Amino acid sequence: MDRHLTGEKSSQNLSDSQLGNQRSTRLPTNWRESFPEILGNSTAVRKTLESVAKIATSSGTVLITGESGTGKELVASAIHRLSPRSRTRMLTINCSAIPESLLEAELFGHTRGAFTGADRAREGLLKAADGGTLFLDEVGEMPLSVQAKLLRVLQQKEFTPLGSNTTIKTNVRILAATNVDLKDAVLGKRFRADLYYRLNVLPVHIPPLRERFDDLEALVTNFLKEANRIHSRSNPCVIATRVFGLMRGYNWPGNIRELQNVVERMVVMKAGGVIQAEHLPPEILGGRLRQAPKDELGVDTMGSNTNGESFSIGGDSVQSILNQTSFSMPDYITRLENALILAALDKTDGNKNQAAKLLGMNRTTLVEKIKKRKIAPLNPPSREL
Ligand SMILES: Nc1ncnc2c1ncn2[C@@H]1O[C@H](COP(=O)(O)OP(=O)(O)OP(=O)(O)O)[C@@H](O)[C@H]1O
Ligand SMILES: [Mg+2]
Repeated sequence: MDRHLTGEKSSQNLSDSQLGNQRSTRLPTNWRESFPEILGNSTAVRKTLESVAKIATSSGTVLITGESGTGKELVASAIHRLSPRSRTRMLTINCSAIPESLLEAELFGHTRGAFTGADRAREGLLKAADGGTLFLDEVGEMPLSVQAKLLRVLQQKEFTPLGSNTTIKTNVRILAATNVDLKDAVLGKRFRADLYYRLNVLPVHIPPLRERFDDLEALVTNFLKEANRIHSRSNPCVIATRVFGLMRGYNWPGNIRELQNVVERMVVMKAGGVIQAEHLPPEILGGRLRQAPKDELGVDTMGSNTNGESFSIGGDSVQSILNQTSFSMPDYITRLENALILAALDKTDGNKNQAAKLLGMNRTTLVEKIKKRKIAPLNPPSREL
């Protein structure tokens, strides 16, 4: 099988009684236990998983959306595992990593001689996954010609292999995932509107890490344990409490995958002992405010103040910040404030009076912000790591 195809997912079959419970609209009280591999208990994650638990038992088409590294593939595997189709296989194809002609051949199959190099007939994934699940990863990157053929599969449950006149029936459940905004793609005529509605029957949105920082500690603890097991078994690393606060001040564009990589990198580099703030990578720790604007009101849209000096925030130009997908100024300002508060607390060894002075703000407001945003421990334990 091609390297773009991740092949069969091993299905951890649930017992019939468990599936029976899952099938009812009301979830059993222990429904969260069905997702042991998906960490996090924040409201955002619980809400997502609750709907996943409900839709997993149906046969409807699912569209999983979320930024890169949020866990879309993990959720797709869980949906299949919890579905009545778990006894059959789930096949995966990444629609962005594969040339158009090859994608078509992989999905629909082909006859012998259908194109140059087709020296034998081959069954497509839509047939190979009959009775099971086909996961179309990065579906937003699917070429328009293939989208038209996929639409027919969703509407009529049939397709024609390349070079053939025979129509083949298939009973496959489609799960699709994307990190691009498909509504935007529809407006830009890069994605068929009819296919979008056919895919978006059961939508699942996975929130970015920055919207569920309540899960940060659980995720870091788990990734740390894993990285210690692999890289630092005899001298495991621990993480200083303050590091979590600094992590909360960062945007995490690569989400959980980025967090996992950062933790692993720190464990490898530190090779045992306490991971402190200074061991965080520069994009998280430093330069969050490389050069503060001298006169914020004098800033023009090109990122220069009235004196023509350009400035950057966190190493990014103002233009590139504005070009970020789903940019929100209130969110950005909150994150910037969090970073400044953390830097002030770090500089003053956690003394809130001095930190408030440094920040030019009132102590009560500072304490409220710290508390509300869970920026840093308000009363750090006396022996803080
Ligand atoms: N809630 C979670 N708990 C534990 N690990 C997670 C969680 N979410 C994601 N991960 C891990 O993060 C990594 C990225 O997850 P996954 O590949 O499912 O993301 P994705 O949304 O498909 O990313 P991409 O858009 O880049 O394809 C994987 O190693 C996965 O195991
Ligand atoms: Mg993925």
